[in-house]
Amino acid sequence: MGFKVLVTRIIPPKAQARLLEQNFELVQWDQDSSIPRNVLLEKVKGVDALFCLLTEKIDDELLDAAGPQLKVIATMSVGYDHIDVAAVKARNIKLGYTPDVLTDATADLTVLLALGASRRIKESIRAAENGAWGKWGPTWLCGSQFTHKTCGIVGLGRIGEAVGHRLKAFGISRFVYSGRSKKPEAEASLNAEFVPFDELLQQSDLVVICCALTKDTQNMFNYEAFSKMKNTVLIYETPLQVLVNSARGGIVHQDDLVRALEDDLIGAVGLDVTTPEPLPPSHKLYSFPNCLILPHVGSATMETRENMANMTLENILAGLSDKPLPYSI
Ligand code: DGY
Repeated sequence: MGFKVLVTRIIPPKAQARLLEQNFELVQWDQDSSIPRNVLLEKVKGVDALFCLLTEKIDDELLDAAGPQLKVIATMSVGYDHIDVAAVKARNIKLGYTPDVLTDATADLTVLLALGASRRIKESIRAAENGAWGKWGPTWLCGSQFTHKTCGIVGLGRIGEAVGHRLKAFGISRFVYSGRSKKPEAEASLNAEFVPFDELLQQSDLVVICCALTKDTQNMFNYEAFSKMKNTVLIYETPLQVLVNSARGGIVHQDDLVRALEDDLIGAVGLDVTTPEPLPPSHKLYSFPNCLILPHVGSATMETRENMANMTLENILAGLSDKPLPYSI
């Protein structure tokens, strides 16, 4: 029996089969729910490697519970705001993640949310299913379209850029972006303009959030920010400007978003991420017809999830053999 490895969920089938072929002393949480914290703290004791998901908080408490033999932690996610990176690095533990591979799937879903919110898909599906579908009407369930509109991308990284290219095909004529630093290559490929955050809010018909959750971006979309968004003129209840978040729930101040929707500051919203996750069905946000919410499925294609699991396994194997991780944070 080789190294002791904790895997916090059953992973997609091909990667799971590959995992089972390894000469590991495998400890795996096999239930269809995330591993409870107390169980995680117990099971992590004495492991050499930890294969985790974004549902597990990796902090000093967990690292203490694991013990000094822990060589590598690999998360099956591109986001790593659930990990105290400094604490992991301070213990010389190798740390891996899954960049690039989920860019297309997440960008597709971001565009789906943008289209769905601006074309009033939630109301349309409900109307079709609950009998509210009457005769065809000239203005009934009219949304707005992207042709000749401005899109603001907050965080022009891999996913932001991929979202931009997709939206170009839907007629967006101008891109602005904001973020920590300029991105010359992505900027050139989209003909985008780097602008201060406030300007992005004021100019964009569609705002997409594609940045990482950090202490700087936490709650950056608060009531003040919503108040600066391009003024909505409600014609036939048409959502004229749209906000989409497929990054992390914590970037949006959710109570402020509820207020902003109540005060008609935003035309329509599409969210794939919330705080908390899962968002309880009783949450006020679900009650807005112009707020479309999905359960964090941005990367949820079998192709992408298999790739993510495989990359995570590659990171674990490299870490256990004291090699540099192929996908290292
Ligand atoms: C990630 O990987 O960070 C996504 O949010 C889920 O795939």
